[in-house]
Parts: sequence; C-alpha cells; structure tokens
Amino acid sequence: MMLTDTHKRWLKDRFGPQVRFNEPMSQHTSLGVGGPADAYLAPRQASDLAALCQWCQQNDLYRLTIGNGTNLLVLDGGIEGIVISLKACCKDMQHTRNETGEVRISAGAAISLNALCNYAIRHGIEGLNFAVGIPGTLGGAIMMNAGTAKGCMGNVVREVTVLTTGGDIQHYDQKAMVFGYRHMTWALENQKTAATLPIILEAMLQLSVADGNALKTEADAILKARAKTQPLHQRSAGSFFKNPLSGLSAGELIDRAGLKGTQVGGAQISKRHANWIVNTGKATAADIIELKNIVQAKVSNLYKIDLETEVQIVGT
Ligand code: EPU
Repeated sequence: MMLTDTHKRWLKDRFGPQVRFNEPMSQHTSLGVGGPADAYLAPRQASDLAALCQWCQQNDLYRLTIGNGTNLLVLDGGIEGIVISLKACCKDMQHTRNETGEVRISAGAAISLNALCNYAIRHGIEGLNFAVGIPGTLGGAIMMNAGTAKGCMGNVVREVTVLTTGGDIQHYDQKAMVFGYRHMTWALENQKTAATLPIILEAMLQLSVADGNALKTEADAILKARAKTQPLHQRSAGSFFKNPLSGLSAGELIDRAGLKGTQVGGAQISKRHANWIVNTGKATAADIIELKNIVQAKVSNLYKIDLETEVQIVGT
C-alpha cells in the first residue's frame, strides 16, 4: 500500500524529526545509488522499532530493514514503503567465558563486523577472523551467512533475539536458522515474505579463547591481502556475484571473459577485482544493472554458467 498523508502524520507525530520522507537511498548505501524511500527512519530504541513494525503490519505497508546498506543495490525508482535502519539501536556488546575456554559474545545486530572482529581480537577471542574486512553489520551478515573461504556466520551463531512481525521479542536457537551459501532461511512456520520476516536484534556467538596477539597478526595479514586485491578505495557493495558452487570463482570467470574495466555510465567492473562493480562517481542503479546484465550474458555465453547476484537488489 502507498504511504498516505494519514500515515505520514502518524509517523511524524510518533517519531518527530527522526523520520524523513522521500529520503534518497543513495545516502544510505555503500554503492551510493538508489532513488528515494517514501519514508526512512532509524529508531533509537527496540521499543520504537517494535511499535513501527506493528504499525507497518497493521497498515499493510512494505518495510525494508537495513543495516549499513553495504550489500544493497536500490533501484533508481526508490522504495515504495518504509526503510528502517537499525544503525541507531542494537549496539550493545558483551562476552562471558567459562573454565573450559568457551566464550560467548552477545552483540547487537547493528554492530559492524569490523567492530565485532576488533572486540574479539582485543579480548583474545578466536573464531571471527574469517570476517575481518567484510563490510556490513552483524544482523546483515547473519541474514546472508556472510563469509569467506575461511568460515561463515553459520559456524558461530548459536542464538538470535528477534523482533517478530507481531512486535514480540523472541529468542531462537540455531535450529531456527538454516545456513546455506551466502543465504540464511528461517525454519519457522508462517514466514513467507520479506515483510513478515523477523528482524534480528541481537545474536549470541559461540567462540573460544586464544592469544590476542596471534589473532591480531592474522587479521592484519588478511586486511593487507584484501587491500591488494579489492578496490576498497572506491564505492561498491563488495563481491557482486556469488561464486558458483564448484569450479572457477565469479572473479576468475569475469576476468577470463575480458570484462575488467568495462564501464556503463558511471558503473565499472573494477580493474582490481573482476567480481566488484564500483561506482566511479556518478553511477545510477540503471548503469549497474546494465553492467550486471552484460556480465551475466557474457559469462553464460562463454562458460554456460549463470552467475547469481550476491548483492540484494531492491526497489522499483
Ligand atoms: N581472481 C581473478 N581475477 C580477479 C579476481 C579474482 O582471477 O579479477 C581469482 C583470484 O586470483 C582467486 C579467485 O579468483 O584465485 C578468488 O578470488 P578472491 O580470493 O578474491 O576471492 P572471492 O571468491 O572473489 C571471496 C568473498 C569475498 C571475500 C574474499 C576473500 C564471495 C562471493 N566473496 O571472494 O567476500 O572478501 O573471498 O576472503 O564469497 C563480499 O562478500 O563482499 C566479500 C568481500
């Protein structure tokens, strides 16, 4: 349903200046593209978030929950509905450890993976270095089972605290989550569309004790290797396509297809890493989509492989 003046009034009365209308999503995504959201809001308390989600459900309004917008391509027509950013709440982090060396970190969904990894290193906690340098927040990383060849979120998440569509806070253990390659699905009844999915507020990760200095050395080496092969200095959403389940990686396929440096408008296949699409300055979502289509068509023609996007594409 479209946002009416009555909806807008409710949002303004309830959230005051926190709510922004016709908010350009280019300001909330690492790619720096995307048309306006009808309304955009970053609630400061979980209770505000709960009230907002309940209200969206009652009014049949589409809502999109985002973390840091680092794996998101919003189309130029924008988002008909309400974008809820978790970045102003869900930021607590603590840990406990037992005599056997098992450590549990409980962290808010809006914490960046970067902050989480640094916390683990500082406290001598092992099990998260696979995530060093992955952009994005903990909540987003769980939703897409972010990871690298060294590991993924599904290996460490033991429990999540979620906000259900009805506005209740519930704890789900790992049996409620089915982790696949770069995706997670809820093993819950009655979960059909993105708008009715629970929102992760917090997660409990099971890790172990280790030497902080050794962890730091390893993390530094990972970051150094990334800086060499990834265009970290440019706007992007990280890896654009999922790696095929076997055979050559997406980066290798695109590279071999001779597409590095290919440009449509302001969007370019990175010259540094072929699986990254970068915004060289003035890209539109349409430029990026056209470039994506060129890549998919050429890789399909040459290698009979259909590359799937890892980046989430939303909007109209
Ligand atoms: N390669 C090329 N040409 C290129 C780029 C890569 O031939 O232009 C080759 C590399 O030489 C290597 C292979 O492709 O042999 C794989 O490349 P890389 O090691 O860079 O890893 P990736 O599979 O492309 C994955 C994750 C990244 C993560 C890196 C490093 C996926 C889709 N991507 O990339 O995750 O940073 O490993 O651990 O799984 C992200 O998801 O946003 C992300 C950054």
